[in-house]
Amino acid sequence: MFWTPAFAGVTAQGTFYETINFGWRMKGRITIICENTVTVKGGIGEHGFSAYVETERGNFLFDTGRGDALILNLLAFDKDPLAIQKIFLSHGHQDHTGGLAAILGVLGGVDILAHPDIFSVRYNISKKDGKETRRYAGLKFVRPYLESLGGRFILEKGFREVTREMFLTGEIPRLTPFEKGDPRLFAERDGQLIPDPFLDDQSLLIYTPQGLVVLLGCAHSGMINILNYVIEKTRRDRIYAILGGTHLDFASPAQMEETIETLKKYRVERVGVSHCTGPRAASRLLAEFGERFFFGAVGESLEF
Ligand SMILES: [Fe+2]
Ligand SMILES: [Fe+2]
Repeated sequence: MFWTPAFAGVTAQGTFYETINFGWRMKGRITIICENTVTVKGGIGEHGFSAYVETERGNFLFDTGRGDALILNLLAFDKDPLAIQKIFLSHGHQDHTGGLAAILGVLGGVDILAHPDIFSVRYNISKKDGKETRRYAGLKFVRPYLESLGGRFILEKGFREVTREMFLTGEIPRLTPFEKGDPRLFAERDGQLIPDPFLDDQSLLIYTPQGLVVLLGCAHSGMINILNYVIEKTRRDRIYAILGGTHLDFASPAQMEETIETLKKYRVERVGVSHCTGPRAASRLLAEFGERFFFGAVGESLEF
């Protein structure tokens, strides 16, 4: 946690600009707590995502998994649930919010930073052999219940500062033509089902001594849209590490190629993927990035 004077610059037009971060950086570690895959490190696997963020400014929880694994895995990896200062939610899907009641049961009062759309009614609709299967995919608790357990929702649509070194992206502008989203995911608006706009999809951005670290939930807004937005907001030209769900399992070959090109363009040093990345996309990224790639299974961590 230190300050450097490199906080402002001059554009090609000669005008000064300010960055959102005046050179503050912090060391820390992100540990994957809930994820689909378990290795020799232990813990239990579930379809979901959660990460414990330890920093010089305290500890935070990013997403809460599906519900069963969170407390068990926090304890399995010696991550103190009582040390969690704030909870961040990447979006409202129940594989990221299902552990809220469990963690609130341990923690009691705590701030939960999220986008207001986390409370959307959502479904996953798949078709096989002409038969449609509709599965509820939204938050599985009502807001008053979570508030009765001590959850204090601090809802915000836009980019926001958590500490001087750490930010939540808020809504991500959808600009890439090739990131089309998962066609099976729907949300209810005015009684109608529409393709889920995932305005609540957000990521955590940390300024570290090595550079920018981006922690993704499911990247429903498109990982490249997210990284482009981070680059735009920070006025940097590179990203040190990404970690989390990339939702590339459903990507077209064109999206996969564009994604790899953009990761190279931003000279991403550590490519850590989890959860909805899927084995095919993970294998492709491993082949492309070699030693720079790692799979973010339960218990894996990124130090910075
Ligand atoms: Fe999701
Ligand atoms: Fe997910």
